[in-house]
Amino acid sequence: MLVVKSGGEAALPEWRAGFAEAAPGLEVRWWDDPSVRPEEVRYALVWDPEPGRLARLLNLRVIFGSGAGVDVIAADPALPRGLPVVRMATPGATQRMGEYVCWAVLSLLKDARRIAMAQAERRWDYFEPAFTAPERTVGIMGLGQMGGRAAAMLRGLGFPMVGWSRTRKALNGVESFAGEEQRDAFLARSDILVCLLPATPETRHILSAPLLSGLPRGAGLVNAGRGVQQRLDDILAALDTGQLSGAVLDVFEEEPLPAGHPAWGHPRLTVTPHLASLPSRRERAAYVADCIARFERGEALPNLYDRERGY
Ligand code: NDP
Ligand code: OXD
Repeated sequence: MLVVKSGGEAALPEWRAGFAEAAPGLEVRWWDDPSVRPEEVRYALVWDPEPGRLARLLNLRVIFGSGAGVDVIAADPALPRGLPVVRMATPGATQRMGEYVCWAVLSLLKDARRIAMAQAERRWDYFEPAFTAPERTVGIMGLGQMGGRAAAMLRGLGFPMVGWSRTRKALNGVESFAGEEQRDAFLARSDILVCLLPATPETRHILSAPLLSGLPRGAGLVNAGRGVQQRLDDILAALDTGQLSGAVLDVFEEEPLPAGHPAWGHPRLTVTPHLASLPSRRERAAYVADCIARFERGEALPNLYDRERGY
């Protein structure tokens, strides 16, 4: 049996339809279904399980994160140590993230926020965007499955690319910077900075005033990693001073972003509601079903969360 906690109970029929195609023999039940006997649960597919709940499933064999980032699952102090946690990694997820990042970076290049605001006011606000893609270097923080794909797609649009990760990368057309010691050099090159890092103690509040001041003046910022990586007040201040010329943020420390938050109305900030990469439930069910089949054949599981690294 697999229990699901992702997308609310209303999403269960869609999950079930996906699993009915991909793993017809698998029983799929909602996480809070009172008729589920905990000892019958072998697999859990979850986004934000209440702390301590997974530990009560004594026959649980594998935890599947319904997203690529499993920081909420990993934050559970009672998470059973030996249990594998598989992160979502469908090809559709990286494609969607690549599309989102291309859209966000092009929005900054073309000042789409200014255009949208003028249209909302029925105002003919003629202006000439200052740069073309080959004149703006994009820096990606986090060159994993999301960052790597986004970098390749941006490169196709003509942006010079630099990237920063924990370990050095050899990606075609992406100049690689690695580790703390190369972070400042990477930032100095990033006319538009894109954050696709996982949430770990090291990346908490990384997008704050000291980092932003290391970017070229008038840089653009995109964050589609996690809200805990940014200090929103510092970003708004940098937009006000012109240190940042624009920002596109998909993630926030508090989600949904409260209706009264000043970020909503900032003229140089585009807010999106954590939708950068959301593969369909059918696609995610197929991925989980494939992993379960591999696991039951005794094969290795892909894309495992690594406790030592924290992602
Ligand atoms: P990966 O694990 O594939 O990649 C993570 C990258 O970050 C790696 O390149 C890693 O370096 C780098 N990294 C981690 N810690 C550090 C650090 N301290 N300093 C420098 N680099 C670091 O993850 P994914 O690409 O699959 O996903 C990344 C994140 O994107 C997720 O954790 C999630 O938070 C976010 N996300 C957001 C979505 C949205 O809809 N907004 C959707 C999907 C993901 P190295 O390669 O050396 O290990
Ligand atoms: C994810 C997300 O991590 O949706 O996949 O944020």
